[in-house]
Amino acid sequence: QAVMKKAVEHAPDALIPGGIADPLIARGDPLIGAPVSRVDGPLKVRGEARFAAEIPLAGMTYAALVYSTVPKGRIADIDTTAAEAAPGVVFVMTHRNAPKMNKVPVFLSKPKAAGGADLPVFQDDQVHWNGQPVAIVLAETQEQADHAKSLVRVTYETAEAVTSLAAAKARGSKTGVFQGEPLKVESGDAEAALVAAPFQVDAVYSTPRHSHNAIELHAATLAWDGDELRVHDAVQGVAHTAWSLAQVFGIREEQVHITSPFVGGGFGGKALWQHQVLAAAASKVSGRPVRIVLSREGVYRVVGGRTLTEQRVAIGAQADGRFDALIHTGLAVMTEHNNMPEPFIMPAKCLYGVGAFHLEVQAAQMDMIANTFMRAPGESVGSFGLESAIDELADRLGIDPIELRRRNEPAKDPTTGTPFSSRYLLEAYRAGAERFGWEARTLPRMRRDGEWLIGMGCATATYPYYRMPGGAARLTLTPDGRVHAEVAAHEMGMGTATVQSQLIAARLGVPLDQVTFDYADTKFPGVILAGGSQQTASIGRSIIAAQDALFADLLALAGEKSPLAGLKPDEVRARDGGLCSIADPSRFESYGALMGRTGRTAIQVEGKAPPPLELAHWSMHSYGAIFCEVRVSQVTGETRVNRLLGSFDCGRILNAKTATSQFRGGMIMGLGMALLEETQFDERNGRIMNPNLSDYHVAAHLDVPEIDVIWTDIPDPHAPAGARGIGEIGITGTAAAVANAVYNACGIRVRDLPITLDKLM
Ligand code: MOS
Repeated sequence: QAVMKKAVEHAPDALIPGGIADPLIARGDPLIGAPVSRVDGPLKVRGEARFAAEIPLAGMTYAALVYSTVPKGRIADIDTTAAEAAPGVVFVMTHRNAPKMNKVPVFLSKPKAAGGADLPVFQDDQVHWNGQPVAIVLAETQEQADHAKSLVRVTYETAEAVTSLAAAKARGSKTGVFQGEPLKVESGDAEAALVAAPFQVDAVYSTPRHSHNAIELHAATLAWDGDELRVHDAVQGVAHTAWSLAQVFGIREEQVHITSPFVGGGFGGKALWQHQVLAAAASKVSGRPVRIVLSREGVYRVVGGRTLTEQRVAIGAQADGRFDALIHTGLAVMTEHNNMPEPFIMPAKCLYGVGAFHLEVQAAQMDMIANTFMRAPGESVGSFGLESAIDELADRLGIDPIELRRRNEPAKDPTTGTPFSSRYLLEAYRAGAERFGWEARTLPRMRRDGEWLIGMGCATATYPYYRMPGGAARLTLTPDGRVHAEVAAHEMGMGTATVQSQLIAARLGVPLDQVTFDYADTKFPGVILAGGSQQTASIGRSIIAAQDALFADLLALAGEKSPLAGLKPDEVRARDGGLCSIADPSRFESYGALMGRTGRTAIQVEGKAPPPLELAHWSMHSYGAIFCEVRVSQVTGETRVNRLLGSFDCGRILNAKTATSQFRGGMIMGLGMALLEETQFDERNGRIMNPNLSDYHVAAHLDVPEIDVIWTDIPDPHAPAGARGIGEIGITGTAAAVANAVYNACGIRVRDLPITLDKLM
């Protein structure tokens, strides 16, 4: 919002309500939406895609980290002599011999800040969480480093730590601040309206900590060349990480060169954590290149996860279902050194038309690893509380839960009063209900198959449309009609390069195989985060800007003899490897002919995306309806998901194949959140007790049924290419849909995740 305010102040003329629609929205180009297979697919299937941990450097050393075993205090003594004498050890670094480094800029504190926390790294003897790195060992092989780290002896002077939720609450909480704004919305007297309403639900829903478990472990391979740092990293923001590392080492951002061509899953966790800082520092002192790959345990200790929440959701309603009051308040736990009070009120801000609201996140502090962003931070856990409460109210009122939502569908954004850019949530519900067979749903405990009780549930999914400032792109066109794009964006497996190639081919009127898309390199333009489900819009708008520059350059070459003579950039469009007049498409000249006239061998342009003014005019969100059927064993209490369907309204879908995977992946993560995922945190000492995939359960193949995915495909007139984000929405709504189905199956309402069998017996 702060960015928006500034943008409006600086460019009031740019505020054209309705904006200028992207011409691609109206075009029925067959490439848009086509289920094109990922361009990086063959490389990955053949094992030829080089990830950060697979880059070899001459003279490379391998790193291992030693983690603190106390939650707070100081390092009284650290003995590294045995480790230093171990075979193959090159260097052991602790706070005693680390170079001077500045604090890591914590995410959201500055536009390009990428750090998970703003703590100093190895600058003093202080311990801030149980698991904090206290030593880094470099050795000639990974095995030697792992052995040597076991020889480091640390003694601590412990200080009193806040490691239980009760202690954190006792210390007090205050309204969380997220992206510079307090997480609080109040309108009318919600408590009074709740009490006055004839029907109410008022319950507390809780969600546990979750840890990041991308398939690819966090990894970096790096080396210094004088004052220049070269990093092969696995990150979601190369520009952000380079700038932040430059701040830490007191150098210019151009002196840090990061590439990150393949990322094996990010989900918000692939940012700048201590491992890259420590590897770079140890490399600087030792003079040797370093490869650091966090172990699975290391990811739990060094990389933050999603925090726990306790949410009160209270709804007051009339007998016809209309809401008088909506209260969604509660607590999220964070640390003093990060910026992430899990904003679980986001869904309640936009989903229902209500007279009186009170939405607020209170943040309390604990001594733990800094919690961080994880796929749909806020929305995923917030939609569990909100959409469970809606289901409880529907049950109490005897109204079908979809009908109840329909009766409270707002005409405009209920908290800001802004019109929606495009919202077809009810259409998503209609289509989803029909395909899922929702009419077969019964009252609770009415369907049985042997020991299994069977039930259906649904819930709303939602995630905001964002477009962060800073987008830029470079295009190079050659006379043969080949287009090469360069953007500092990221491919974490979601299909970025494929979808952007499709869009560029459609925009420039060339076949798909004549487009190459290169990315994730700090030498390319753009400050683009693969986060907030906004990368596609951010790149898309940057490409439009570059295309405008390209058309202007091409027309400047046209001259008197060209069929395009006298046309202005907004009077032409691309087709068949050239430009034509929009008014008279027979006035056409190919790129080759245009460039040949002056003997140009290539045209290179750069475009900068304008500020995201669409967000000042419109309430923009992706929506979906999640449907779930479960069976619950009356013998063991075990829940199995029989069927899952997602019906989405996210604007135009740009690639049916990659989009389906994004939606499915999100829903699988939601299923895991509903039934399995929980970071177990020892409240006596702040230690994560299950830092591995055998004790921390993520959904595996046998947990996941066939997942059906459909969408409205209605373009959003205010988003580039008509497409809103799809990366995170799948996880939202899913946990509530599962919980609502469990209730429908067996009549037990579980309000604290995960829904394990002990809660159903
Ligand atoms: Mo996401 S949590 O915006 O990578």
